Amino acid sequence: MLEQLALPVIAAPMFLVSGPALVEAACRSGIIGALPAANARSSEILDEWLTGLTAALERAPEPRIGPWAVNLVAHRSNARLQADLALCVRHRAPIVITALGGPQAVVEAVHGYGGLVFADVNTPEFAAKAAGFGVDGLVLVCAGAGGHTGQIAAPAFVATVREFFDGILVVAGAMSSGSAVRSAQILGADLVHMGTRFIATDESLAVPAYKQMIVDSSSRDIVCTNAITGAWANKLRPSLVQAGLDPDNLPPRRDGFDLSRGEEQGRAWKDLWSAGQGVGQITAIEPVRAVVQRLQDEYTRALEAELRDPWMQRHRSTPC
Ligand SMILES: Cc1cc2nc3c(=O)[nH]c(=O)nc-3n(C[C@H](O)[C@H](O)[C@H](O)COP(=O)(O)O)c2cc1C
Repeated sequence: MLEQLALPVIAAPMFLVSGPALVEAACRSGIIGALPAANARSSEILDEWLTGLTAALERAPEPRIGPWAVNLVAHRSNARLQADLALCVRHRAPIVITALGGPQAVVEAVHGYGGLVFADVNTPEFAAKAAGFGVDGLVLVCAGAGGHTGQIAAPAFVATVREFFDGILVVAGAMSSGSAVRSAQILGADLVHMGTRFIATDESLAVPAYKQMIVDSSSRDIVCTNAITGAWANKLRPSLVQAGLDPDNLPPRRDGFDLSRGEEQGRAWKDLWSAGQGVGQITAIEPVRAVVQRLQDEYTRALEAELRDPWMQRHRSTPC
C-alpha cells in the first residue's frame, strides 16, 4: 500500500479542519488523506461522506491514488465509536487511525476485512501497549506537533520505539517540508503525519482568518499549554489574544483531560486555533495539490543534496 504513494505522507486528521474535500485532494495527489469521524456531525453524515469519497476516488483519473483513513476516538466515552467503526468496516476504510484509548476492538474489526490500524501515541509506554494489541502502525506524536502535542523529540521517540516495534512508524510533529520527510526516514520512520501543513489549503474546513493566521505566523507564535483542554496542546498565540486570553498568564488547570466534556472540546478548537511548530514554513493558502507538489520538489532536492554531500561520499566509499 505504501509503495504506491507519491510521497510517504499522511495529510493528518484534524478536528474541525479535515473534511472529505481535503481527503479526496490528498489521495488524488498521491498521499494518504485522513479525517476524524467526529468532523461529521453524526454517523449518518459520516456515511454520506464516505459514500461520496469512495465514489469520487473510484472515478478519479489519476494513476496514483493514495489510500484514505478515518480517525476514531477509541475512548469508551465516545458514544459513536461502534456506529462509526461499523461504517469503517462497511466502506472498507483502508486505514483506521485510533486516538485516545485502547485500539483492541478496532484492530479486530478492521483486520477482518484486511484494513490497517495505526494508533496515535505520545509516549513509549502507550506505544508498547498499542503494539501489544497488534496494530499495524504507530503514529508517534512528538514535541512541536499541532493539536494535542507530545513532549518527546522525534529522534528520541523513534529510536526508543524502533527497539521493540518493527511495524509501520509514522512520525508527527513540526514536519512541514520535503526535507523533514527525508529526515524522518533517516531516523527510521516510514511515514510522516502532517497536520499544520494542510490547514491553509483551499480544501480545508478552517475559516479564512485561521488560514491567514497560519500564513502570518512563525514558531515564535506557538504557545504550548494545558490550560485549554487539560491536555498539552500547541495553540496560535494571536488566536488566544483575539479570544481575550493572556497567553503568558493562562489560568492553570488541574482537572486533567476529559473527553466527555465534548462541548467544551468543541469550543477549545473552534476559536482557539492550533498549529505545530512547523507553521513558519507555510507562506500561502494553496490547493492541496500544489502543497504536495512543493513537498515532492523539496524532497527531491533533499535527496540530491544528500548525494552531493561530502560526508555521504566519504561514508559510501569507506570499505566495510
Ligand atoms: C487543528 C488540529 C486539529 C487536530 N485534531 C486531531 C484529531 O481530531 N485527531 C487526531 O488524532 N489528531 C488531531 N490533530 C493532530 C494531527 O493529526 C497531527 O498529529 C499533527 O497535526 C501533526 O503535527 P503538525 O501539525 O505539527 O504537522 C490535530 C492537529 C491540529 C493542528
